[in-house]
Formats: sequence, structure tokens, C-alpha cells
Amino acid sequence: MVETLITIRNAREDDAQGIADVHDAAWRDAYRGIIPGRELEKMIARRGPRWWHLAIVRKSRLVVLDFDETIGGYASYGRNRVPSMPYGAEIFELYIAPEFQGLGFGRRLFDAARRDLGEHGYSTVIVWALADNDRAIAFYKRLGGTFVREAQERFGAEMRSRVAFAFE
Ligand SMILES: CC(C)(COP(=O)(O)OP(=O)(O)OC[C@H]1O[C@@H](n2cnc3c(N)ncnc32)[C@H](O)[C@@H]1OP(=O)(O)O)[C@@H](O)C(=O)NCCC(=O)NCCS
Repeated sequence: MVETLITIRNAREDDAQGIADVHDAAWRDAYRGIIPGRELEKMIARRGPRWWHLAIVRKSRLVVLDFDETIGGYASYGRNRVPSMPYGAEIFELYIAPEFQGLGFGRRLFDAARRDLGEHGYSTVIVWALADNDRAIAFYKRLGGTFVREAQERFGAEMRSRVAFAFE
């Protein structure tokens, strides 16, 4: 019998390419038809392996879902970037490669990020998603998030709504 070892662990320098691949595939899958095409391509191009390598060596909080050396997802998190909101931490990004979605791994990554934040003294967490990203909205609601704010974000010449969910 062949067993695949699935772990959630801190990102290492040699994960940069794998994380960039997940980012590329998950962003295309999630945002085509939501973020204008040219802007989406620019955003993906900026986030190649060099960008991720830098994020890892700068010790950003970044965990990966490791399937026997294949990166299947990642989550990045840290201090809440909107200090006027009463939440200590923020999950900046949480992405699962399309072929691994819907299998419980998003929840596992989310729980791992929250556990790590809790161990660093953060009990409240906020997460933003584009309002048109139905899958992410359903996911955060299912995980118990409470809708707390809506804001606008510019993509080139166009604006899109994004919404924040809080977890206390
Ligand atoms: C959103 C995302 C992180 C969810 O991860 P996932 O692995 O697909 O989700 P899970 O299988 O862990 O689902 C967790 C729970 O959410 C529910 N859920 C997930 N997607 C759902 C959907 N589209 N509709 C309704 N419920 C959904 C599941 O039923 C599950 O509930 P349960 O644990 O009570 O059975 C993942 O699909 C993803 O990366 N999507 C593309 C990128 C994205 O939108 N990221 C978020 C950016 S803010």
C-alpha cells in the first residue's frame, strides 16, 4: 500500500516554487471573471518564486500543506493590517490548489493558522474575501465567521467589493 504523508508545516526556502504554483493556479481558478484579466495577470506575475522566496527568508508567517513534497496549499497571516478594527490578527491569504479543494484541507490550514496565532497571543482574527468569491464566502461562513465590514478595492480602472469576516 502506498501512503501519502500530509503535513502542515512552516514554509521552507525550497518551497518557493511550489507556493508560487499554488498561488498561480488558485488565483486563476478563483478570480477569473471577478478581477479584470489584465490586472489578474499582473498580480500573478508579481508573485513568482522570487517573491515567495523573499517572503520566506523574511520570516513572514507562512504555512504550507505538504503532500509528500508537493505543495497543495498555503496560508499567510500576521497582525491585522487595519488597526482601527478591534481584531488582533489577520489571515492574509489562504489558498488550496484546485485539485485539492473540497477535501477538508482549507479547514485544516485555517485551524493551523489560528492555532499558531493563538499561541502568539492573538485570540481574534479577521479575514477579507472578495464579495464575488462565493466559494470563499461560503467557506468562511461555514467556519463560523461573522460578517463585520465591506470595503472597496481598486483593480486597475475598476472597483470590487470585499468583505471581512471576524473569528472571536
Ligand atoms: C476557499 C478555500 C480555501 C476552501 O478550502 P477547501 O479545502 O476547498 O474547503 P474545505 O473542504 O476545508 O471545507 C471546509 C468547510 O467549508 C465548506 N465549504 C467549502 N466550500 C464551500 C462551498 N463552495 N459552499 C458551501 N460550503 C463550502 C465545506 O462544506 C466544509 O464544511 P464542513 O467541514 O462542515 O463539512 C479553497 O476552496 C480555495 O483555496 N479556494 C480558492 C481560493 C480562495 O477563494 N481562497 C480564499 C481567498 S480569501
